[in-house]
Amino acid sequence: MVILFLPWKLISCFNPLHLFFLFLTGLIRDTMGAFLDKPKMEKYNSCGEGNNLRYGLSSMQGWRVEMEDAHTAVIGLPHALDHWSFFAVYDGHAGSQVAKYCCEHLLEHITSNSDFQRALQEDPSVDNVKNGIRTGFLQIDEHMRTISEKKHGVDRSGSTAVGVMISPSHIYFINCGDSRGLLSRGGAVHFFTQDHKPNNPLEKERIQKAGGSVMIQRVNGSLAVSRALGDFDYKCVHGKGPTEQLVSPEPEVYAIERCEGEDEFIILACDGIWDVMGNEQLCDFVRSRLEVTDDLERVSNEIVDTCLYKGSRDNMSVVLICFPGAPKVSPDAVKKEADLDKYLEGKVEEIIKKQGDEGVPDLVHVMRTLASESIPNLPPGGELASKRTVIEAMYNKLNPYRSDDTYLLKEEG
Ligand SMILES: *[C@@H]1O[C@H](CO)[C@@H](O)[C@H](O)[C@H]1NC(C)=O
Ligand SMILES: *[C@@H]1O[C@H](CO)[C@@H](O)[C@H](O)[C@H]1NC(C)=O
Repeated sequence: MVILFLPWKLISCFNPLHLFFLFLTGLIRDTMGAFLDKPKMEKYNSCGEGNNLRYGLSSMQGWRVEMEDAHTAVIGLPHALDHWSFFAVYDGHAGSQVAKYCCEHLLEHITSNSDFQRALQEDPSVDNVKNGIRTGFLQIDEHMRTISEKKHGVDRSGSTAVGVMISPSHIYFINCGDSRGLLSRGGAVHFFTQDHKPNNPLEKERIQKAGGSVMIQRVNGSLAVSRALGDFDYKCVHGKGPTEQLVSPEPEVYAIERCEGEDEFIILACDGIWDVMGNEQLCDFVRSRLEVTDDLERVSNEIVDTCLYKGSRDNMSVVLICFPGAPKVSPDAVKKEADLDKYLEGKVEEIIKKQGDEGVPDLVHVMRTLASESIPNLPPGGELASKRTVIEAMYNKLNPYRSDDTYLLKEEG
């Protein structure tokens, strides 16, 4: 059972407790026969801590078993930057090569370029760090282009990148493309990055100056993002510099002074998350989850699952980084959540019983019925969608005719 279950959830921070938990869930799942029928929910997880930060990440990449890691999480940076950390999410398109390459090499391109080095040695100013980050992006893009040309341009893939570099004094938000990063401070959204969509006036202007057009909100009617690494087909207008092309690899870098005690958490996520959750909504949800668990992988998984149930069809990746000022687990909130789960389980039972001789209603019916009722204490931002797992588990337990492939995005239609 364990062997069956393990590959379904690759966990990179193994410890005996975790293994025991996996073993238990493996057992439970096997006896209930309930959950193994959901390849779509297969996730890659990781977590860690250091420099007074804790992080957890989750990514779910559709039906395919291909586990490509499109994250970077590094606590303690090279070149003696022990007290600095770096996190990033890469969302690839038209293939995964560029996302993969950036995931492995972007940080080194940033920290080793001479502009960044100058910021560390000669003139340690915020502007110099920002400039060094920008140089790293332009440099890795040029480097990947050279590799791609050597292979006669077989790689047509591209990738957005959103990240944060956290120094002892500042948070540097870095964005290139339509993923998004945000900072929650003092119980509210304090900052979020701007998405680079072809329709934005500045992006549109650059695209048009490079001889392209924006149609159906896409560059030349095809690419939905106006800044990205890779995408070299969109970077070959003669006489124009690298940041003047149809698609630009130039990141926007914002420096925010840290605020000890007030800074709560940072979320980095690709557009599959933001398509179905607003900034405030997601922050409220995360805050409510942090009050019931300090397991950041679990919180990240709940974000991804909730977005799936809210109808996102995209690949989803999320990194959650917590500062010491993040909300703490509260016994009150834990109890409220347990009560809510019990209440929902009771409701599911009631709905199934009500159907009587007509047989067991399908899960879509159960969800719709629940959605039409006013249920107290649902998690803010996540609402009923965030409780889908609990509802489904109860439903499966009570349904003797459970089919093994009740795959449930159906209800959207
Ligand atoms: C994203 O999902 C789609 C459809 O499920 C898949 O074809 C594509 O390869 C995925 N992309 C990545 C980067 O995993
Ligand atoms: C974009 O459209 C312009 C104008 O039609 C064309 O000259 C250019 O080759 C196109 N570029 C790409 C990458 O499609």
